[in-house]
Amino acid sequence: MLRAATATRHKSLEARLPLTHPDLDQHTYARIIAAYYGFHVPLQRRIDAFLGPHGLDPERHKIPALLKDLQALGLNHAQIDALPLCEELPGLDAQAHLLGIMYVMEGATLGGQVLRRIIAQRLSIDADTGGEFLDVYGRDTGRLWKAFLKQLADFDHPEHNAQVIDAACMTFACFEAWLDRAGVLKPGQMAASL
Ligand code: HEM
Repeated sequence: MLRAATATRHKSLEARLPLTHPDLDQHTYARIIAAYYGFHVPLQRRIDAFLGPHGLDPERHKIPALLKDLQALGLNHAQIDALPLCEELPGLDAQAHLLGIMYVMEGATLGGQVLRRIIAQRLSIDADTGGEFLDVYGRDTGRLWKAFLKQLADFDHPEHNAQVIDAACMTFACFEAWLDRAGVLKPGQMAASL
């Protein structure tokens, strides 16, 4: 259901993100990781604010991997602190929204498995030289994805499903628009639809 509802948005991002493009270089890769950081940091804050003291399962935290990559790619603390952060985030005031947002960010770890191999081949970047985020869950990727799908299935209810889908679409749209503003995407049409 979610996969079909977001397929066009996924395709658009996949086509526009230069991660798989033959002309990808280390500089562009570093700019993409910096833009990812600028989206994940405020989104994580929003999720923390919504969830309260218990917060997100620590296993699913991704900011440490992004920080490690940015440092490995040559940014110092001051440069990282100065990175722009996205202000146009998907709304989050219901469990259904959280699941829609999580679907997009967790699903990206599946694509990461493909991308980390490409980055290793093309740029010789591995987990210690800037590629930790693309393999953030490592060999736990499958287990964590299945556990998330179970959470989704447990929540499944006709009353909430539309909200989950809307939140997932909104997350894709916000992320694409942010990456576009950050100047790391190839030209496309989807961003205009936000
Ligand atoms: C060049 C970039 C990307 C490539 C090559 C890529 C590729 C893939 C691949 C191979 C899968 C697994 C499909 C399967 O196992 O059946 C996947 C799933 C997924 N990706 Fe991507 N992806 C990319 C970018 C992204 C981004 C940036 C996001 C979101 C921020 C994203 C979100 C998802 C989601 C939500 C799924 C799960 C789909 C499902 O099975 O329900 N992907 N991607």
